[in-house]
Amino acid sequence: MPGRSEAHERLLRRAATVLGGCLGSFRLPDDVAIVLARGAGSHVYDVDGREYIDYLLGSGPLLIGHAHPAVVAAVQRQAALGSTFYTLNEPIVELAERLIEAIPCAEQVKLVSTGTEATLHALRIARAYTGKPAVLKFEGGFHGVNDYALMSALAARPTDYPTPIPDSAGIPSAVEADVLVARWNDPDLLDALVATHADRLAAVICEPLQRALVPAPGFLRTLREVTERYGVLLIFDEIVTGFRLAYGGAQERYGVVPDLATYGKAIGGGYPLAAIAGRAEIMAVADPTRRGRAPLAHLGGTFNGNPIGAVAGLATLEVLRQPGSYERLYAVTERLTSGLRALAAERGIPLTISGDGPLFQVFFTDQPVADYPGVLASDRARARAFGLACLARGLFVNPGEKFYVSLAHTDADVERTLAIFADALDAVA
Ligand SMILES: Cc1ncc(COP(=O)(O)O)c(C=O)c1O
Repeated sequence: MPGRSEAHERLLRRAATVLGGCLGSFRLPDDVAIVLARGAGSHVYDVDGREYIDYLLGSGPLLIGHAHPAVVAAVQRQAALGSTFYTLNEPIVELAERLIEAIPCAEQVKLVSTGTEATLHALRIARAYTGKPAVLKFEGGFHGVNDYALMSALAARPTDYPTPIPDSAGIPSAVEADVLVARWNDPDLLDALVATHADRLAAVICEPLQRALVPAPGFLRTLREVTERYGVLLIFDEIVTGFRLAYGGAQERYGVVPDLATYGKAIGGGYPLAAIAGRAEIMAVADPTRRGRAPLAHLGGTFNGNPIGAVAGLATLEVLRQPGSYERLYAVTERLTSGLRALAAERGIPLTISGDGPLFQVFFTDQPVADYPGVLASDRARARAFGLACLARGLFVNPGEKFYVSLAHTDADVERTLAIFADALDAVA
């Protein structure tokens, strides 16, 4: 970042040496790389004390903002009582009850630590329950970084349906044979693929709001009908949409109930916690007492049901349950997106904003973006340049990707953000 202090530069050099300069796939270019020191509400601060309005929010979990006082108090209380037990504890029982109250498909939940584990286990449970090996996912749908998920999620070219394009080297080729890929928002292709492969298909998994691409009217309903007709389980990956689109997530927002669903991000209140939810009859295949007498989907993890994540999640859900929370989240996002649309129109810049609820993504195209080929056809270099221009001007974002909005974003944040959007659009005009 221009103007970084010598101490900041030194820290970045140390990070380059010991961490390769990043924590995973999120890596900012060297000229705008920063090391963060703290977060408060809707803002983060780098080690030089420079302030950014945060639209990354830890990649989504901080739906009520950084270091919310209720979350901090709950975590401090629990930390003094013990941080992990590897067995039942009261906070996790309470969180499981809150999840089941909120989630339409949930009769039972299993807890893990990350979204990647949640989708891995949901797919394994589906295979164990149905006795079938294959799964179908959608091109451009992201379900974490397990071997089954990293198929046609991030490819640089369109998929030749239903043959997946692995998104990573190092994935065993055997996995590809059991993953089919369909086009998002294409009900006819979906119907044909499920009909053809029903005898080996355990489940269809989707993000009900795929990244920021809204489901076309009736598409999720078709998905539900087709999977039911052919005896295939439907899994909603609600790791982003859960408690974000509505308290009851995408299931409440879109009125479609899957067989299984995965949760992460918001349910841990900013701490690592994720869940698989579903009908008790299906979840029963993960019951360890079945070992040796019935098919068992083995599910385990050192930090499963962690009490710190549980109390942080409970505190977060309590805030979200308050009247007006979702109205506020939607209204702030609407002001940002309508403001940005107007700024682009004034400048004659073709721009499509996609998303629902408190998240959106900016595509530089004059076409509607309904599926992954549509994403690939947009000017992605310009979207990234726009994100980098926002970053350099004080918005903390994942350049070219989604903007996440929280309850902590203020009217003043919106005003400042729109001024930065205007400058950033001028920079990429
Ligand atoms: C829809 C979706 N599913 C799964 C994951 C993986 O979650 P995690 O990063 O916690 O492993 C993500 C992460 O961004 C996601 O957006």
